[in-house]
Formats: sequence, structure tokens, C-alpha cells
Amino acid sequence: MSVLITGGAGYIGSHTVRYLQEAGRETVVYDNLSTGHREAVSGCPLIVGDIFDKELLIETMHKYNVQAVIHFAAFSLVGESMTSPGKYYHNNIAGTLSLLEAMRSAGVDKIVFSSTAATFGEPEYTPIDEKHPTVPTNVYGRTKLFMESMMRDYDHAYGIKSIALRYFNACGAHKSGEIGEDHHPESHLIPIIMQSVLGSRGPVTVFGDDYDTKDGTCIRDYIHVTDLAQAHVLALDRLLAGCASDVFNLGNGNGFSVLEIINAVQQVTGRSVRYSIGDRRDGDPAVLIAGSQKAREVLGWKPEYADINVILEDAWRWHSSHKNGFSV
Ligand code: UFG
Repeated sequence: MSVLITGGAGYIGSHTVRYLQEAGRETVVYDNLSTGHREAVSGCPLIVGDIFDKELLIETMHKYNVQAVIHFAAFSLVGESMTSPGKYYHNNIAGTLSLLEAMRSAGVDKIVFSSTAATFGEPEYTPIDEKHPTVPTNVYGRTKLFMESMMRDYDHAYGIKSIALRYFNACGAHKSGEIGEDHHPESHLIPIIMQSVLGSRGPVTVFGDDYDTKDGTCIRDYIHVTDLAQAHVLALDRLLAGCASDVFNLGNGNGFSVLEIINAVQQVTGRSVRYSIGDRRDGDPAVLIAGSQKAREVLGWKPEYADINVILEDAWRWHSSHKNGFSV
């Protein structure tokens, strides 16, 4: 019996694979390596294949006696989703359809998948719990919300059970420093600050300091990637135990402003961060903080690395030893 991880060579996927392996679970990664990294996968088979290759998916599910799927394979850049919507509708929605049809053919009826805080859009209240209205303000969020609907429909029609995990700001890296965040292009705050400190890019631009927040910069809920991995495994076990389909928000419930993150990076690295204040970035809500009580109560999720300094230390271990990411 094994778990198939689509997109398992990507950032959150590869950390989830590690977490499963450390728990002694059998895994098989399915990834087309369009944004993932071969080097991020070790200790289990890596099938280099496309989500649209239904035959290969079915063959892989049979060959490895797959019991459940964790689905990460998707594009996830908010800005790009607005300039290339077709790419996102095609890959994220049609790709998920292909996967669900393959699961149906192969008789696999459990799936955990990565959703996002972007499904909520502009917050009406914080912390944002699962009951908060979902009115995404970008194409990426819309594709993820539609994927959630697809999962519900496949449960209703075919009994495929699913758990959607809506993450807030994934960050940090595996304790070993062997795997971490490596996107091309990089758009996320923490890797951008680290790369700037390491001299591989120029000063950081802070996107706006005129928000209605304590220091005028945007506030986010930063959650360690290994804690996200833990939640995936708990969700998987919940489905394997026969529980119903569900959705959970994942964050620490603490908000940090962009300037607070910059200061914390200075503390952790002992180096100064060069930055300037720029314009607001389109579509950035002022404050995004998760209400994750449901995940704690129902899944038994306990984030282990909630301290922002620990998150940044782990990120720094990875970035300072992999200045060029996996292509060191
Ligand atoms: N930021 C900067 N300068 C940068 C990069 C980011 O000031 O160079 C700011 C952003 O404006 C934002 C904060 O840092 O306020 C965090 O930005 P990220 O790009 O790291 O993360 P986001 O909050 O934009 O995105 C995250 C996830 C997305 C998800 C989104 C939900 O990475 O996948 O939350 O709103 F869609």
C-alpha cells in the first residue's frame, strides 16, 4: 500500500514526502518536473509524468498499489495567474479532472489536496475560519476553489473522499537543510529577503507601507512547511479511517508584518537587510491570519515550529547552503 504524491518534487510536496517517509510510509512521487526538482525527491520512486497522462497515472496507481493520493501538482503564482489565466485553468482545473478520472478508473477513492487562503479573497473578518465567505480575487484562488467543488462532486457521484487544506503563507525548510524553497521566478517574501542578504539579488522592495496595519505593511500568517506536511499526513489518516470529506485552514494564527519579517531575518542571520518601500502589489489584502482551531480539534494538528525565529533559522540553513537552490 502506498501514497501517490502528485507534485511531490515541489516545495510543500517534497516536505510532505519526507514527513511520510520519516513516519515509515511508502510513497511514490508523480511530477512532470516543470517547476519541481528531481533532487528534492529521494528514498522513493519518482515517476516523471504529466497530470494529463491518465494512462500513466492509472498504471502507476496499479503498479504501486496506491491507496490514496496527495495532490500538489498545480501552478501557484498569483500574479502569473492574472496575466496567463488559461495556463491556470488548464493545469489546475483540467489537470485535477484528469487525476480524478484516473483515480476513478484505478479504484482509488481518497485524496488530500492543497488549497489556499487565496480562496477567501479580501477578508471580512480575522482570524479567517472555514466558514468565512470564499470570494477569490485572483485566478489562482478561483482555480483552487473550483478544485474544491470538483472534489465535492466526485464524492457525491463516486464516493471519492477528499480533504482540502487551505494554507496561509508556507515557509521554512526541512531541519536537515537538504530540501527547501526553490521557485523560478521567486515571488515569496522570505526567500526574496534571504537571497538579498546572500547577495544573489538586490535590495528587497516592500510592497506598500500605507496599509491600515501597525506599521503600514501587510500582515501574514507564516506557517512552517513541515507543519503543513504534518497536517497532510493527519488528513490522510483521517480519510483512511473512513471519515467524511472536509476542509481545514492551516496557519499559526499569528500575524507578522513585512517589516517585522525583515527585522527578524536581521536578527536570525546577523546581517542587515537592504530594502526600500515600493508601491502596493495588486490584489494584496492588508491582513491574512488563519483561524485553525478546526484543524487542531478535528485533525489533532499541533504545529511544532510556530516560532517565527525557528522558521527563519530553518529557511536560512537551506538558503545559505543552497545559494542557487537545487542547482548548487
Ligand atoms: N512582499 C513584499 N515584497 C516582496 C514580496 C512580498 O513586500 O518582494 C509582501 C507581499 O506584499 C505580502 C507579503 O510580503 O504582503 C507576503 O507575500 P508573499 O508573496 O510571500 O505571499 P502572499 O501572501 O502573497 O501569498 C501567499 C501564498 C499564495 C496564496 C496567498 C493567499 O504564497 O500561494 O498567500 O493570499 F495565494
